[in-house]
Amino acid sequence: MSRIAYVNGRFLPHVNAAVSIDDRGFLFADAVYEVCEVRDGEVIDSTLHLDRLERSLRELRIRMPMSRAALLVVMRQTIKRNRVRNGGIYIQISRGQSPRDHLFPNPEVPPTVVMTAKPHDRAKAEAQAAKGIAVITVPDNRWERVDIKSVGLLPNCLAKQAAKEAGAKEAWFVDAQGFVTEGSSTNAWIVTAARELVTRPAETGILRGITRTVLLKVADKLGLRVVERAFTVDEAKAATEAFITAATTLVMPVVSIDGSPVGDGHPGETAPALRRAFHDSAEHLPV
Ligand code: PDD
Repeated sequence: MSRIAYVNGRFLPHVNAAVSIDDRGFLFADAVYEVCEVRDGEVIDSTLHLDRLERSLRELRIRMPMSRAALLVVMRQTIKRNRVRNGGIYIQISRGQSPRDHLFPNPEVPPTVVMTAKPHDRAKAEAQAAKGIAVITVPDNRWERVDIKSVGLLPNCLAKQAAKEAGAKEAWFVDAQGFVTEGSSTNAWIVTAARELVTRPAETGILRGITRTVLLKVADKLGLRVVERAFTVDEAKAATEAFITAATTLVMPVVSIDGSPVGDGHPGETAPALRRAFHDSAEHLPV
């Protein structure tokens, strides 16, 4: 089946879907995005993802291209037309198309809206989660506004590529003080010997992941103690467990950091339990 993409009011064959070379997303990374999980024909946590999308747009002074209800209609249509039951939906909104000029277009132009949906292999993802992943650490060389989910992801791409070349699946960014901020496309967590779940506060230095937000509730329900504080690479290496979270990976155990095994080098109990319990606390919207 050929893939279908949504671009500015039209559904097109993916191969023919395009935006202008004057699009500010292309020229300046002047765009924001969201990725939601699609699971068993339902969109997961769409309310929180759309809340964050609106926030990202507001922070960059890009206007909402349509109402939330309309965005949801397009999201569901995009998922349906691609017959995705398990996978993800990608939403990107740029400031629009205008001849190249650093200044915002004046008068304002309509934002560019693109959506795509893609299936994924759940069995493969579960097999990966059963094994866990390796991460490497890299200096965090991103701008300060990583709380905005902008498409300006070059440092993230370079970090992810470095991870792959080192035989790992994710790279953790480390700030100038030696604290882990987050992964190139995931949030970072550890479980300490005192059985505390530790993850960095979302006020600075990281994207406030939706999976992270929901997982804080899951942890509470499972009676796990959560401490929102920054942790160092050494502390992570000495942790009993580590894991990452994102809409794409869900809860994914980390079994080695820069080649040092975490715990006994296999997933522990906490991360798999959180992974199993996650969707009981998530919002499910039938497509
Ligand atoms: N990434 N941190 C960063 C830098 C991210 O890019 C992401 C998500 C997360 C986790 O956020 P959430 O739980 O809302 O997915 C944290 C998406 C999936 C991506 O870029 O593909």
